[in-house]
Amino acid sequence: MEKGKCTELKLSITKVFYIDQNNPDLHLLNLAAIKLLEGGLIAFPTETVYGLGANAFNKEAIDGIFRAKKRPVSDPIIVHIFTITQLKDVASCIPDLAWKLAEEFWPGPLTFVLKRHPRLPSNISAGLDTAAVRMPNHKVVQSLLELAKVPIAAPSANLFTRPSSTLAQHVLEDLNGKVDIILDSGPTSIGLESTVIDLTQEIPTVLRPGGIQLNSLRKIIPFLKLDPKYIKLNKSKEVSSSPGMLLKHYAPKAKLILYTGEPVDRVTAHMIETALQHVKKGKKVGVLTTKEEYVYYKDLPVNIFVLGSVCKIEEIAHKLFIGMRELDNKKVDIIIVRSFSNEGLGLAVWDRLFRAAEGNIINVTF
Ligand code: TXA
Ligand code: MG
Repeated sequence: MEKGKCTELKLSITKVFYIDQNNPDLHLLNLAAIKLLEGGLIAFPTETVYGLGANAFNKEAIDGIFRAKKRPVSDPIIVHIFTITQLKDVASCIPDLAWKLAEEFWPGPLTFVLKRHPRLPSNISAGLDTAAVRMPNHKVVQSLLELAKVPIAAPSANLFTRPSSTLAQHVLEDLNGKVDIILDSGPTSIGLESTVIDLTQEIPTVLRPGGIQLNSLRKIIPFLKLDPKYIKLNKSKEVSSSPGMLLKHYAPKAKLILYTGEPVDRVTAHMIETALQHVKKGKKVGVLTTKEEYVYYKDLPVNIFVLGSVCKIEEIAHKLFIGMRELDNKKVDIIIVRSFSNEGLGLAVWDRLFRAAEGNIINVTF
């Protein structure tokens, strides 16, 4: 494919196979593995979000992923593996630290950026000499990897810039007719993507906070750096040196307004005021909130989605993309939400909210 260009994608019929992850139907998974080896696209659940997979050694199939997602070809894709020995098939010059981290965190939501093995087609990593690799912790994708006997290249199974898919229904909404088979195993457990750590730099650097928390990584790498990039779409030069770190990402169709500040009741008062102003102007308003704060919004003329308890950041993470998509389906014009603690998994929640808001934050102060 010519750099920067996406040719039209042929439409096909998308089949949905329901797979019980506690008792996976090997016949259906075998059909999916065969389709994958024929160059098809298979969407599957992982513990983080749904992935849109192709045979990682098939250049044309990988081109198909970029077309299906309308993803810029400058945004590299993660390779998923089943066994630790497969790491040597997709990466070269693997540092000791990678083996150590793999032993501790794999299978799990941690992705390593390493030197790319020459056998992997270069379009998988946008022409870079690196490749991102992870071993997912979900029975369905593990069975698919085992049956196909090849690593699987897979970004999240959503259209470019949209919230990642955490339900098979989300995959259908974005990619119906563009993916051959969707393996539906219900909601993904974490609900946010993996942590991406670059192990090719002198100081290991987290490029994207995610399912594995910084505290856990710092037990092994005390000098770990955190350097997520937030790049506006038109700054194309920077994009090529920091692939996939666009500011607008994981975004609902509605404009999302993110509130920060303290105390929470003052922030809430601002949010209510903004909501009512927009309603007065004839806009349809959505609110993402918590069980504890629901009471403040319940009598307002707004659409409310409850993410979970304010004390359980994993509930908020699990429901974040579901909430954004549900409010989009209700055709709201504006979504208002406040930030939560950015401790632990909260850092990844903050990162996704910040990108969904395209950096538009209202900081409430006294
Ligand atoms: O949890 C996940 O990571 C999910 C599941 C399906 O595994 N995948 C996922 O893929 O979120 P994607 O493509 O939506 O996000 C991958 C991120 C992007 O920010 C991309 O730029 C970055 O990883 N990435 C991939 N290869 C890279 C590389 N060689 N160098 C730097 N960043 C890379
Ligand atoms: Mg993605």
